[in-house]
Amino acid sequence: MEKIALLENRRILLGVSGGIAAYKVCTLASRLAQAGAQVDVVMTEAATRFVTPLTFQSLTGRPVYTTMWGALDAALGEDAVLPTHVVHVGLAEAADLLVIAPATANTMAKLAHGLADNLLTALALAARCPTLLVPAMDVEMWAHAATQSNVATLRERGARLAGPARGRMASGLEGEGRMVEPEEILGHIRLVLGREGALAGRRVVVTAGPTREPIDPVRFVSNPSSGRQGFALAQAALDSGAEVTLVTGPTHLPTPVGAERVEVVTAQGMHDVVLATTGAADVLLMAAAVGDFRPETIASQKIKKGEHDLGVRMVRTPDILAAVAARWPDSGRPRVTVGFAAESENLPDNARAKLVAKNLDLIVANDITARDAGFAAETNRVVLLDRQGGLERLPLMSKAAVAEAVLERVVALLTAKEVIDGDA
Ligand code: CTP
Repeated sequence: MEKIALLENRRILLGVSGGIAAYKVCTLASRLAQAGAQVDVVMTEAATRFVTPLTFQSLTGRPVYTTMWGALDAALGEDAVLPTHVVHVGLAEAADLLVIAPATANTMAKLAHGLADNLLTALALAARCPTLLVPAMDVEMWAHAATQSNVATLRERGARLAGPARGRMASGLEGEGRMVEPEEILGHIRLVLGREGALAGRRVVVTAGPTREPIDPVRFVSNPSSGRQGFALAQAALDSGAEVTLVTGPTHLPTPVGAERVEVVTAQGMHDVVLATTGAADVLLMAAAVGDFRPETIASQKIKKGEHDLGVRMVRTPDILAAVAARWPDSGRPRVTVGFAAESENLPDNARAKLVAKNLDLIVANDITARDAGFAAETNRVVLLDRQGGLERLPLMSKAAVAEAVLERVVALLTAKEVIDGDA
């Protein structure tokens, strides 16, 4: 697992209350710690019946706090971060975010009424940072009017909720009340922490994945794009606080929390959605592997195999970036357009030609013949070329790291443009 720039050195107070879903929160604690966050876990008495403090301590490498009275000893230990003897105040003040997962009906009821009868609820009362509640309880408890009214109160006061999801409960019941999965909680955490980022209030359109061009109802022409690079870009844009529309061809990747996902199939379909959404966007990141050709006609019935080979005449699909450049030649929308170039030879020259031809601010080029980069790989090795003639070779890195690097350049380009345009 790797670092996430947004989470590095951020202080996350992870409150764990007593529900069976607590075991899944171990995964969350581990993920956050590996991403670079400082995770201080605070457990209620009931939570320690499900998972031991030692588990969280091992995963986060930090002391775990369980009671108001024992907390003092822990805080004065070698690893102590808190000079204060008022541990709950010290922990609360230092935190960038308080996450309570699982948040039981009991803990939420206490929070709604301002009770402070254990370290976690005392902390929640003292904290001024944003609070994210991740409820987990049985269907009937979640549906109960008391819980619903407590949740409404907490929301009104600014708490955010992740879930609960529908599904099968530990009790065997089906319905709403399941804790959302750790990856999704992480997405909500990123959304809250990213809100004040460099792209706050900006609209970013990202395209991802392959397109599919049907031949008949069961056959199509496509390419091996997994969508990973585009989805990573959408996540990086969310981490910077942007409002993100993710226009994606067919892929099974989960939608980054907070992104609006628009699914398309063909190049023409992607073209139509991009043109409809880009007029209001500040940034367009065109990471999709758009098919350049489609069968001239689509058979309405499945083509029978017969005796002979099948000749399919292929015609051009619209070039989406060219259409964007033609639609908004001078209006400055989108302010920053980034293209991608999949090349198998002459990478810098071919990429630069595309940068010019498609009127881009930046092009991210990769060699699709490398096995550890490009289509369907987890990692990517790219070269960034800009309009001013700059060329930067990035080392082999994860697609998430490439996305963070690209977004950094986008923020710089956006800032530079607005200074020049005089409307910053
Ligand atoms: N692109 C597009 N519309 C298309 C094809 C590509 O907008 N019909 C975009 C891609 O999303 C990418 C950039 O153009 O950002 C370059 O794509 P690439 O496939 O590398 O280049 P092509 O323009 O298709 O040129 P060629 O296939 O000849 O290399």
